[in-house]
Amino acid sequence: MLDGPSWPIKSDTVERGSVVVLDIILLGPPGAGKGTQAQRLVENRGMVQLSTGDMLRAAVKAGTPVGLKAKAVMEAGELVSDAIVSALIGEHLDGSQGKGAIFDGFPRTQHQAEALELLLGDRGRHVSHVIELDVDEEALVERITGRFTCATCGAPYHDRLKQPKVQDTCDQCGEHEFKRRPDDNEQTVRTRMAEYRAKTAPILPFYEERGLVSRVDGMASVEQVAAQIDAILDKRT
Ligand code: AP5
Repeated sequence: MLDGPSWPIKSDTVERGSVVVLDIILLGPPGAGKGTQAQRLVENRGMVQLSTGDMLRAAVKAGTPVGLKAKAVMEAGELVSDAIVSALIGEHLDGSQGKGAIFDGFPRTQHQAEALELLLGDRGRHVSHVIELDVDEEALVERITGRFTCATCGAPYHDRLKQPKVQDTCDQCGEHEFKRRPDDNEQTVRTRMAEYRAKTAPILPFYEERGLVSRVDGMASVEQVAAQIDAILDKRT
């Protein structure tokens, strides 16, 4: 291998040139830490985060036809249609070619899992890891209902766990406006969790049959969860 990456190659990864490409799914209920861990993998490994939640929120903000359809569904905590989210992933997938993708919040149904197989297969790629964040749902309600972000740079904060160092001032960009997601209230969070149990958790066997699933303790600290994920991705098989 030429000037390859610092992490070892797993047998079910795709190697193109000197680059090892991992396409991984982060699976877990709302607030499990998928977005937090995806961001870290983007920073540390140069992978591309593909979050259907972020794509849908951008569509809602821009008032696109997709956004208009998705808005009420998201605010109710229910799932947007498989056709819409699969199309969004299809539109964004090529941007991760050669870098690897972190699928954050996708797939969420069996139909979406099958769509992802086709979308990746068409590009000579396949899912290399499915990492399930194992969490206590009651603790997650507090995690989610307390979170807010800087309206300017998106830096994450929490009412109890992480307040800005100077009141009402973002630590990262110094701006003073903050926002909360409209679906981060307790009632909607409980619907989102029920949707996860009913429609998303049942897709795990689809990946378990192929030996792709690893579980990490999602209730550990952000750093400890990150270390568990690194150990999985760096394992040589
Ligand atoms: P989406 O945006 O995907 O939301 P979600 O799955 O509900 O996940 P969250 O973003 O709330 O949580 P997360 O797991 O990313 O946790 P985070 O890192 O933010 O989806 C929203 C909606 O869009 C859905 O309800 C649906 O309507 C629609 N949608 C999206 N994708 C769809 C699809 N594929 N099909 C159909 N509909 C779709 O962390 C949460 C908080 O905890 C943060 O404050 C963070 O700082 C903190 N935290 C993280 N890790 C830790 C830790 N280890 N210890 C302590 N605190 C932590």
